[in-house]
Amino acid sequence: MLVLSEKEVRRLIDIEELIQALERAHVQFSTGKAVMPVRLVVPLPEIKGRITSMPAYLGADKALGMKVVTYFPENPKQGLPTILATVFLYSTETGKLLAVMDGTYITSIRTACVSAAATRALANPETPVLGILGAGVQARAHIRALCRVRKIRAIKVYDLVEKSVQSLIQELEPEVGIKIEPVKTAEAAVRNADLLVTVTTAKEPILSADWLKPGVHINAVGSHRPDLREIDAATFQRAKVVVDSREAIMAECGDIILAIKEGAITEDHIYAEIGEILAGKKAGRKNADEVTVYKCVGVAIQDVAAAQFVYRKAIERKIGVNVEI
Ligand SMILES: NC(=O)c1ccc[n+]([C@@H]2O[C@H](COP(=O)([O-])OP(=O)(O)OC[C@H]3O[C@@H](n4cnc5c(N)ncnc54)[C@H](O)[C@@H]3O)[C@@H](O)[C@H]2O)c1
Repeated sequence: MLVLSEKEVRRLIDIEELIQALERAHVQFSTGKAVMPVRLVVPLPEIKGRITSMPAYLGADKALGMKVVTYFPENPKQGLPTILATVFLYSTETGKLLAVMDGTYITSIRTACVSAAATRALANPETPVLGILGAGVQARAHIRALCRVRKIRAIKVYDLVEKSVQSLIQELEPEVGIKIEPVKTAEAAVRNADLLVTVTTAKEPILSADWLKPGVHINAVGSHRPDLREIDAATFQRAKVVVDSREAIMAECGDIILAIKEGAITEDHIYAEIGEILAGKKAGRKNADEVTVYKCVGVAIQDVAAAQFVYRKAIERKIGVNVEI
């Protein structure tokens, strides 16, 4: 069994190649060539945490694995991230464990890479202004991935915590070579943006349909629990809505579940899964003024596809430590 640390996983991932692997995974999922249940979330109030298991199988890629995620909100006090993850990859011939690898970096980069694929498939070809709500881990991964698929000229970032925006700017401005402007309100990041990313832990909507520029594409990443919301119902009402997995969205996504509950949309308003668009089963954007939303909650096929990609690279480049168990 190969063991790969976060540092090694980071070294092995090439964003453009990972985007392609994830596109293939979503096509398999949305054409019936993958097996993936909705994730099992186990709340553990006694130890102020929770554990989640996310298994998946990809038929064409012959990839079988499971991500295990823990969520301990007190962790930052000890200098640890709230969310920690590990991915286990198995042989599809024998079920033998092939690899165990860090899944924390995989979680952030696979999410951003699928948003990049959705942007390529749904956004207008020219998207010079990128607006970001939230300045945490996902904001960073999204800036890195989106700059690979679009010519971005200006980035505007809003976060409740101003110093988080400043540290994002210090870290990323030199790396991406694009001016990143801190803004004081969500509205300032949204107005005039051609491309938007929402990556907050907000509980109530922070984005209003009134602020949207015609033709904007939104990658909506935050709300991943039935009680959490980032985006108002009117935005979904106005937009063509594409999701990562219909089943997972209807089980987990407060943004959509609550918009349906309020009567703003029905489940039929979900136009497609991203895999259906990538497979050519459904058309993408209708015209330059259409508002498109890619809403994701994050699904196991993405982690398994990313882990298999990393495993193959590790074998090729002889990286990692072999351990007998
Ligand atoms: N869809 C997916 O596949 C997927 C994958 C990973 C994470 N996520 C979710 O994405 C979100 C961001 O993840 P992260 O790892 O970057 O978290 P993070 O904690 O690193 O960053 C979240 C940021 O949001 C900011 N924030 C919270 N409430 C806000 C508000 N009302 N207005 C503006 N900013 C606000 C916080 O100050 C923080 O800087 C989380 O909800 C996470 O669960 C989704």
